[in-house]
Amino acid sequence: MQKRLGRIISILSIINIQSICICGCTDQNSSYLQDYGQMVNETEADSNASDTSFNDVAESESLDEAGIYVNTGDTITVGFSQIGAESDWRLACTNSVVSAFTAENGYNLIYDDAQQKQENQFKAIREFIDQDVDYIILDPIVETGWEGALLEAKEAGIPVIIVDRRVSVEDDSLYTAWVGADFYLEGARACAWLDAFLSKKNIESEIGIIDIQGTLGASAQIGRSKALEDAVDTHDNWTLLAAESGDFVKAKGREVMEQMIEEYGYKIDIVYCENDNEAYGAIEALTDAGYKIGSDIENGDVMIISFDSTREGLELTLDGTIAVDTECNPLYGPVLTQTIACLENNTYLQKESYVLESQFSADRTVYSTRIDGNTYKVTILSQDIIDQRVY
Ligand code: AHR
Repeated sequence: MQKRLGRIISILSIINIQSICICGCTDQNSSYLQDYGQMVNETEADSNASDTSFNDVAESESLDEAGIYVNTGDTITVGFSQIGAESDWRLACTNSVVSAFTAENGYNLIYDDAQQKQENQFKAIREFIDQDVDYIILDPIVETGWEGALLEAKEAGIPVIIVDRRVSVEDDSLYTAWVGADFYLEGARACAWLDAFLSKKNIESEIGIIDIQGTLGASAQIGRSKALEDAVDTHDNWTLLAAESGDFVKAKGREVMEQMIEEYGYKIDIVYCENDNEAYGAIEALTDAGYKIGSDIENGDVMIISFDSTREGLELTLDGTIAVDTECNPLYGPVLTQTIACLENNTYLQKESYVLESQFSADRTVYSTRIDGNTYKVTILSQDIIDQRVY
């Protein structure tokens, strides 16, 4: 306990409490972080070089070939509260964390699957505290309601690293660091692609959009839904016909789509699925109802927009079923071991860090998008790019 107290005090003294979203430690390469797929110039966009972004691995003495921090000291016990197994993305995320926190790398990982219930995450945190773990990693199902559990961890002197989604707490000393995605930017990139696509095709007709949202209250839902609402507000001919949660799962995506077909039928031009699994369900429902899926919306196609860029999602993007798939990076294992390396080594750690993300389409109409004065690359998808990906 004495050892932990000493360590916590030193950790707190080195953490910069400001929320500047840059990168992890100063002595670790942080190529996973803070790129946003943003480009320096338009030429790079048009060259359309293959971009596997977060698969780039850092070079650092304490990283192994897979970019995983190799701890050479005592075993570090880490409790990981994962949301569940709702999507292909989630499985890839779990796999990345479990593969990084191995006994071989010096970790004892206690993994807990909360099965989509916040109460189970509270319970897991309490159990980790009872087990006196060295660190807690929390992927929070929703943003609100965390004060009590996080305070208990803080009072027990256990640093909590929040991953992927965010917690919304007034006192940010309740967690040590956050590493995750800019979900609003993901949504804004999807909408900017649609805007650029419609402009280049000179499509000015009414556009009816359905939003199959993620789990309500989850950061990934909040950001992506808000970006769509904002884009609809700035386009006179875009109408958000309906928004309903598909909970990030295929079956619910299908159910919501069936309902929307009944209600809005051929008014639907675009289905904005907030993850790939929902897209799989929506595609099934549309196909079964006799709709044609594709980008020729002027001739009756229904266009699918999706998020995550999982392998199956990208295969559907390559054949044009999904028009554009904006990546959500699940490969948190190496980023998290680097975060813990910073804390173990008392090196400077940014309080909040974003991971690298790309955007893929097989359609060659749009090579880049502009958002708030920044240019973002659209990677034109090929089988080679899919084959190079690690999940
Ligand atoms: O929080 C990340 C989101 O959660 C992913 O987009 C989704 O697939 C997952 O379930």
